[in-house]
Amino acid sequence: MHRTTKSCCSRWLRRAAALACAALAALAAGCAAEAEPQVLRVGVALYTQDDTFIASIAQELERLAREQEQTGGVRIDLSVVDGRSNQTTQLDQIDNLIGRGCDALCVNIVDRTAAAVLIDKAQTAQVPLIFFNRQPVAEDIFRWERTYYVGARAEEGGMLQGRLVLEAWQADPALDRNGDGVLQYVMLEGEPGHQDALLRTEYAVKTLTDAGVEVEKLASDTANWKRGQAMARTLQWLEELGDGVEVVFANNDDMALGAIDAYQQTQRPLPLVVGVDATAPALEAVAQGQLYGTVLNDSSGIARSMLDLVLALGAGEDPAETLPLEEGHYIWLPHRPVTAQNLEEFVS
Ligand code: GAL
Ligand code: CA
Repeated sequence: MHRTTKSCCSRWLRRAAALACAALAALAAGCAAEAEPQVLRVGVALYTQDDTFIASIAQELERLAREQEQTGGVRIDLSVVDGRSNQTTQLDQIDNLIGRGCDALCVNIVDRTAAAVLIDKAQTAQVPLIFFNRQPVAEDIFRWERTYYVGARAEEGGMLQGRLVLEAWQADPALDRNGDGVLQYVMLEGEPGHQDALLRTEYAVKTLTDAGVEVEKLASDTANWKRGQAMARTLQWLEELGDGVEVVFANNDDMALGAIDAYQQTQRPLPLVVGVDATAPALEAVAQGQLYGTVLNDSSGIARSMLDLVLALGAGEDPAETLPLEEGHYIWLPHRPVTAQNLEEFVS
């Protein structure tokens, strides 16, 4: 009796073990059949969130990532961090993102001369690194084969802005307010040392002088991409220069809007004002006839290209096979001029 119970027990145990094994095997097979969607963890480091254009790139990246999940079967887990314009803060944030494990990093670097240390960190951790908007020097970009840059060519932005002014100047003699045949201008510059501040300033003016227009710079100063600072600067210039300014060049739209704020506050007649970016408030100002024109800095294109890079790298592909990579490292988004004439193409 005792013995029977024992053998019965061991038979039961063998059977239970076999059943458990079968269940595990079935579970494993089931897992393979209905695999969880692939998850790509992407760290996104912004130089600051307090920047209209950068905020629009981040927003677009979020939107495209959600869209990709619906259609592409890949889950994209974005961790966005705000560097608050401090390189030390940003480096800590990136250490943290790498430490938590991520498949790719998108970096809008605070100080574009500090890229080398970041590239070495990413290489050590073997995390592909995509810089955007704030362009490290080529020597740094070529430091490691999985370092990329996504952005727009700074000199092209300046050239197109210059061309907008050139065409207006040639078409409308009234722009030469004092009738001396010389174009008197002021220049609101972005952050010192930023490629877009340096090259937009240079190429906007060069486009006019190359075309034979005589120009006179009445004043120029940095307003760090900011509307408030640009308004303060312009108010000061209005006191010093009165209505002598014929064209206000601004390296970006927020500063162009700041200049317009200053003219409106003092109720002085607006000169020709031009910006760069084509942000929503700038397009609105073009529609209202306050901002003469701007140059599209393609925030959606930048976000799309970064996501495409992340997806290609995540799938273990060589991005050069499917994406317009130049020199193996760069994706360039073209600028486009915007005025009241073609505004509808840009307002969504
Ligand atoms: C420029 C843009 C500016 C500002 C800056 C930040 O390309 O025109 O508005 O966002 O980047 O790096
Ligand atoms: Ca003049």
